[in-house]
Amino acid sequence: MTRIAVLISGHGSNLQAILDAAAGGALPGVEVALVVANRREALGIDRAIRAGVPVVYFPLAPYRQAGRPRTDYDSDLAGILQAFAIQWAVLAGWMHLLSEAFFARFGRQVLNLHPALPGQFPGTGAIARAYAAAQRGEIDRTGVMVHRVPDAGVDAGPVVLQEEVPIRAGETLASLEARIHAVEHRLLVEALRRVL
Ligand code: GRF
Repeated sequence: MTRIAVLISGHGSNLQAILDAAAGGALPGVEVALVVANRREALGIDRAIRAGVPVVYFPLAPYRQAGRPRTDYDSDLAGILQAFAIQWAVLAGWMHLLSEAFFARFGRQVLNLHPALPGQFPGTGAIARAYAAAQRGEIDRTGVMVHRVPDAGVDAGPVVLQEEVPIRAGETLASLEARIHAVEHRLLVEALRRVL
């Protein structure tokens, strides 16, 4: 079995898609062996507990309070994954930029999900920024990508899978968000199937 860790910071709907796929036999040979959350209020923590998957709550704040650099946090995070014999890390709504200290210790078997097309709207708020650009008439589509994370770049790296999502005239941001999340849930599982 390939042991994966899913790193989350929020709602966890993509984590749920992975858990459901694994439970339903759609990810043969893959075990969700760990969930790491860097925010206590992450609803994804409850999803992991319900699925019986070990959860580690690992906030950055204590490092900051102790005056320790992010690189210590990142290196220790890699250590946690190694302690669980994790082979792949999947960033599914993980709102923390990993530094080279993480990759140097854990390796580069890391996948990230981003709700935009390659090279477009890197960073946070990508869906809302794409929606605003469409309102300005600059674009008529956005998308979703799953990519390898070889280094400390922001939402950049060799693309495993991507899919365009047209932005419909007159639709609300909430409608676009819902359609993008639906594509994410399917694309992330498919990307895991292909890579793992
Ligand atoms: C997803 O849109 C992901 O692409 C982005 O953050 C969101 C997390 O959603 N980075 P969820 O927590 O999996 O529901």
